[in-house]
Amino acid sequence: MTKPIYVLNGPNLNLLGSREPEIYGHETLDDIRDSMRKQAGNRDIEFRQTNSEGQLVDWVQEANREASALILNAGAYTHTSVALHDALRACTLPVIEVHLSNPAAREPFRQTNYVAPAATATIAGLGSRGYHFALDAAIKMTA
Ligand code: DQA
Repeated sequence: MTKPIYVLNGPNLNLLGSREPEIYGHETLDDIRDSMRKQAGNRDIEFRQTNSEGQLVDWVQEANREASALILNAGAYTHTSVALHDALRACTLPVIEVHLSNPAAREPFRQTNYVAPAATATIAGLGSRGYHFALDAAIKMTA
């Protein structure tokens, strides 16, 4: 049986819909999860969110064992977490980094990125559509 595609979301992404909608849009994380499940057809989506860095590292390790591909929006841990970078380096599966906004066009503290150097690809600045492009790529890469 084909392994699921993991979609992991980091801190504050549980607030999507009400958090700075002019930057992150009006869709909630549940909306994104539901539309990804529709898009996925017969592929399983394991969709999670956590505010905790250690939990995110545990889930990345789990994805490496249990998933066929990983889609990751690490939120602010993108810019701070060496632990997440190391966990991603240990991954042997395709890892697609997603951001709703384009951190490269934002504040200086968002210019450091510990995820991108350990990811297969990055999609940023396309709002929630970025998750759908990532899923399309993940499905094609693991068909
Ligand atoms: C984000 C961008 C990050 O810089 C920020 O800390 C987030 C959301 C995005 O999806 O645009 O929490 O990952």
